[in-house]
Amino acid sequence: MAIINPLRQDVENPGVLKKYSANIRLWHWINALVISGSLLTVLLNSTLLNLSDNTAYIKGQLQEAGAVVTKDQAFSAAHGLEDRVWGLHIYFGYALAALLVFRFIAAFFQRKDQHLFKKLKIAYQDYFVFKKNRYLARHELFVKTLYVIFYALLSIMTITGLSLAFKTEFGIGKETAHSIKEFHGFCMYLILTFIVVHLAGVFLAERKDSKGIVSDMINGGRQSL
Ligand code: HEM
Repeated sequence: MAIINPLRQDVENPGVLKKYSANIRLWHWINALVISGSLLTVLLNSTLLNLSDNTAYIKGQLQEAGAVVTKDQAFSAAHGLEDRVWGLHIYFGYALAALLVFRFIAAFFQRKDQHLFKKLKIAYQDYFVFKKNRYLARHELFVKTLYVIFYALLSIMTITGLSLAFKTEFGIGKETAHSIKEFHGFCMYLILTFIVVHLAGVFLAERKDSKGIVSDMINGGRQSL
């Protein structure tokens, strides 16, 4: 069993399947859509709407059409197009911030045994203290630690993103905004790494020991083993 694939079974009761509440399932799929949308805006701005390529393209196209424009004018047009996509990115960002708040609130109403930190604690105790179900516990410990890192990353993305979106209101200077933006951009690669590991884990789980794990995230895990 690869260490990255999530488990379908409960570590405490290996004969029982994990259950996912409707709230968490809804959150999971909307979150996946919003993160994909956000990543798509970044991809668009770094490829099709790349500032320098697009400046040259706009200048060339307008020249062909008989208009004479300077490089600065073409740059303004390219910048405007890029900004429209950043506008979309910011809307995805607000949605992501709202989803994160929703997730933290949902945690309060979650059954204790479905709580991420509770699961992490049980796995930790089973592995290090009670030394029982060690194989499953080690696995659960690794996967749940990844999820905690992911939530921390989402929080960082939200805080840095909102700081950029409201830099004037927060009185954030140009230099600081630039550093925040670089950090925000760097964390995207960590998010991308998580997504790759997560998808690979789910894929391996479906193919090997935890068949049906994706439908559990859709139907809540109603079937028994
Ligand atoms: C998974 C989530 C997110 C990803 C992957 C992501 C990624 C990025 C990347 C790569 C950049 C460009 C950084 C650079 O040019 O160095 C950026 C810019 C930005 N992001 Fe995000 N971001 C996310 C979430 C958010 C959130 C939650 C907000 C909050 C509203 C936000 C607001 C912004 C703003 C305002 C900018 C600057 C846009 C501009 O240059 O005008 N982002 N983001």
